[in-house]
Amino acid sequence: MSAGAGKNKGLSGLVRPGLLGMKPYQPIVAPGSLAGDGVGPGGERIKLDGNENVYGCSPRVQEALRNYREYHVYPDPEQRELRRALAVYAGVSPEQVLAGAGSDEIIDLLLRLTLNPGESVIDCPPTFGMYRFGADVCGGKTITVRRTETFDVDIDAVLRAATRETKVIFIASPNNPTGGLTPRGDLLRLLETGALVVADEAYYEFCGETLAGDVARHENLVVLRTFSKWAGLAGLRLGYGIMAPELVQQLMKIKPPYNVNAAAEVAVGESLKDAAYLQGTVAALVGERDRLYAALGGVSWLAPYPSRANFILCRVEGRDAKQVQLGLRRKGIYIRHFATPPLQNYIRISAGKPEHTDAVIAALQGL
Ligand SMILES: Cc1ncc(COP(=O)(O)O)c(C=O)c1O
Repeated sequence: MSAGAGKNKGLSGLVRPGLLGMKPYQPIVAPGSLAGDGVGPGGERIKLDGNENVYGCSPRVQEALRNYREYHVYPDPEQRELRRALAVYAGVSPEQVLAGAGSDEIIDLLLRLTLNPGESVIDCPPTFGMYRFGADVCGGKTITVRRTETFDVDIDAVLRAATRETKVIFIASPNNPTGGLTPRGDLLRLLETGALVVADEAYYEFCGETLAGDVARHENLVVLRTFSKWAGLAGLRLGYGIMAPELVQQLMKIKPPYNVNAAAEVAVGESLKDAAYLQGTVAALVGERDRLYAALGGVSWLAPYPSRANFILCRVEGRDAKQVQLGLRRKGIYIRHFATPPLQNYIRISAGKPEHTDAVIAALQGL
């Protein structure tokens, strides 16, 4: 042992300096966990804060998990069956697919694979917070290229901002929390930077537009998808990436061997066998999203934004968005609010069942 090696450093001496002061990710505050949290008229908590599928997962998933007997066996580290099933669904080859514990894990793996400390990623806020979070954890920098007034990606500005040290450009399309799509041609232009361009299609099933078919022609294009939103499996954690086989191989090397649990594997298989049922719930949610958008437009102090996903973002005018969120929470309705730039006074409401839309609109009108 060298001199001083055994000296007590204290925990702050052990944690990487760049992480000591890092702000934590702000997840959803669980319904029922705050004093004053209410329940709705039927005793139900109406949870519209996480863009989940309120219809739940396929009944085939419930049944298969009830009957599953192999929980004591580790899942396949190479995810062979799972990748085959995902590839058929996405119309790509299994070698182009990698699965993770949510697309959050694929974001993390991509950053751990590519970022050296001090190198950069680009994100375009307002957008999903895990891109910056993941870069922070890896000691990377985030170059912020704000979206325009209408929340479109400023592609020319992204191209100007990219440097030799830029490793990854993240674009969620449809974007969370704003709901809009980035046109395919714009996303493809970003490939000329040479950085990995990650088209995050977490809400693909609600809009039907994808770059999955472009991956074979572009080795620096990655498409991310998830079963959290359309398939009602947010709690089981299953996301996947579609990318060049060489990139899949590199990620395979660094991923935890058993990153996708056995229950999630079973659930994906059954969901895909019951895709027609799930697509029915997606169609219902899309219909309800559009009805919600129209109804929110009728509330004098809200300005809703059109959305291709399963939620609606609204600017709150002349009232405090946090108070609106808390007011609904007391009535058993759970939504997100945003209070920091570039979303200074906004709320986001996930599409639910018709009765949820009715309850939200009645509650907003009664505030
Ligand atoms: C744009 C976007 N990407 C990724 C995710 C994460 O999804 P998962 O549950 O698969 O980790 C979300 C979840 O909110 C999201 O909105």
